Amino acid sequence: MLKPRLLALSGSARRDSLNRKVLAVMARGAEAAGAEVRVVSLGDYPLPLYDGDLEDSQGLPDNAARLQQLFASHDGLLLASPEYNGFFTPLLKNALDWVSRPLPDGSGRPGTVHVRGKPAGITAASPGGLGGIRSLQHTRQYLANLGFLVVPEQMGVSQADKAFTDAGELGDEGVRKAVEGVGAAVARLAMAVRGD
Ligand SMILES: Cc1cc2nc3c(=O)[nH]c(=O)nc-3n(C[C@H](O)[C@H](O)[C@H](O)COP(=O)(O)O)c2cc1C
Repeated sequence: MLKPRLLALSGSARRDSLNRKVLAVMARGAEAAGAEVRVVSLGDYPLPLYDGDLEDSQGLPDNAARLQQLFASHDGLLLASPEYNGFFTPLLKNALDWVSRPLPDGSGRPGTVHVRGKPAGITAASPGGLGGIRSLQHTRQYLANLGFLVVPEQMGVSQADKAFTDAGELGDEGVRKAVEGVGAAVARLAMAVRGD
């Protein structure tokens, strides 16, 4: 049986991003549950701030089309995003807003055809005490509006600047299991949606 393929994205492209570290733990949880995970940095797909005039005059940017193709070729999404003032990041919002735009094939179909009905799992990480949990309700709502099936499991990792061992593992077993659990839930739902 083919493993479900999950795309893993961080809302931060920062070199030492805490969220990218959390994403790696989430990915391991999904892999242990039987999924194949591809981690992609949005920093490798730079995009202008969404601009309808630019879209009208130049069409969909190549990197937006590449991201649409990544979603098309995966069965679900693992996401870890920082919280900026209670919300997920503009990097993530802008990238996914571009992804939602009509496909460049002239069919008029929106990019959301490649995400609709696919499972997604959300986490956040912050050096602060709340671990970015205020942003998760917005992330959940936004992804649901795009058509993702967001699993109920979620996790905000607090004091994330002190939470990792040198090997990149979460030191607290409960926190690690919760983050891995989000990844595993996405893997399981991806298999269920496919009817495995
Ligand atoms: C504009 C801005 C707003 C922020 N707002 C919050 C916030 O609302 N809650 C929080 O816990 N941390 C907040 N932070 C701190 C981030 O959690 C911290 O910079 C974190 O390390 C960013 O994630 P990253 O390490 O994955 O890049 C904010 C940081 C920035 C730059």
